[in-house]
Amino acid sequence: MDRKLRMGMVGGGPGAFIGDVHRKAARMDGGIELVAGAFDIVPKKSREMGRELCINKKRVYNDVDTMIARESALPEDERIDFVSICTPNHTHFPIAKAFLEAGFNVMCEKPMTLTVKEAKALQEVVRKSRKVFGLMHNYTAYPMVKLARDMIRQGDLGTIRKVVVQYPQGWLARAVEKQGSQQASWRTDPKQSGAAGCMGDIGTHAANLAEYVTGLTIKEIAADLTTFVKGRRLDDDGNCLLRFNKGAKGLLHASQVSIGQENNLAIWVYGEDASLEWHQEHPNYLHVDTLNAPTQVWKRGNDYVGEKSEAAGRATRLPFGHPEAFLEAFANNYCNFADTIRARATRTKASALITDFPGIKEGVAGMKFIDAVVTSSAKNAKWTKL
Ligand code: NAI
Repeated sequence: MDRKLRMGMVGGGPGAFIGDVHRKAARMDGGIELVAGAFDIVPKKSREMGRELCINKKRVYNDVDTMIARESALPEDERIDFVSICTPNHTHFPIAKAFLEAGFNVMCEKPMTLTVKEAKALQEVVRKSRKVFGLMHNYTAYPMVKLARDMIRQGDLGTIRKVVVQYPQGWLARAVEKQGSQQASWRTDPKQSGAAGCMGDIGTHAANLAEYVTGLTIKEIAADLTTFVKGRRLDDDGNCLLRFNKGAKGLLHASQVSIGQENNLAIWVYGEDASLEWHQEHPNYLHVDTLNAPTQVWKRGNDYVGEKSEAAGRATRLPFGHPEAFLEAFANNYCNFADTIRARATRTKASALITDFPGIKEGVAGMKFIDAVVTSSAKNAKWTKL
């Protein structure tokens, strides 16, 4: 398939956060072009965004229904190949379902849906549609995270005993949702955010990271969620004990009221033979420890990283010492997602390296995680199965 893939976007209007990151990242490697969108819930703002992005105004839509109808009516060699959904949580399910049923591939933001029931229904829609579905858990797309996963797969840590994962932020330490913050206002509204606040927004990233790196599955959770900011309707902090399959134990904490913390996602994995540690705010380094030996620091961009992990090598663009981070991780998911679409279109089998991006399975797991933490916390941190 020797052409760029045509991307459409829903969300990402003026002043929105993540849509702009998707646009920059998807186009980073030149294989994708943005040609259409319903960028904002307010039609005027959607048009304003379309003008700013120099999108043909015929393909800037006032709403999702019009976008699907008009794109579907275009000749196959003009219409979008996929849509990226960058809207608040409550809209993911209806929008993703509508695009999939109309025959479009979908890249969707997390958390995937509002409920487990919706997640399972979407899984069925994806299965029936035979379309490619990606979910933007961007943190598992960093090269050093892929390296960590491959070290564990290759047995370097031995049997995993314990996993500690954290995602503290501090930006919701005050009721900024009452002071006009667009991002805070829907995130603290159960109708738009879902049953969990902090745990849905960033706890899901931590859980996804733990499962991706270790290859283990969280089976049971005991969670203690708190709403520290008076009048807020959803949790803004939570601490969880985790039980994985194969006997591993863990801790997960996430917070949006930890003043001073920005995006301090980090993971520690302790095995029988060695341990590793990775920090999202210093993503180009992976620390590995064995007993009675100095710490090893693996550095992104060195040949030895690609030799140890083909996936980490594939996810690397720049030589060592030139940092890569957030945008590149989004771009890595887009590369694999786009290559999987190309493979489907040309009826070739995509290798495991190419299909290495989060999708419907991780989306269902994320919704089960949210459901379990909320259920457990309501029962005074009772152990709850996922
Ligand atoms: P935001 O509030 O900044 O932007 C949302 C945008 O969606 C706005 O432009 C709004 O007008 C538009 N919108 C809402 N309903 C729409 C509809 N029916 N049709 C067209 N446009 C519509 O929100 P933000 O922070 O960008 O978050 C969006 C999603 O991305 C959320 O699900 C969030 O959880 C996720 N997210 C993921 C991140 C990641 O690291 N993967 C980081 C930040 C957000």
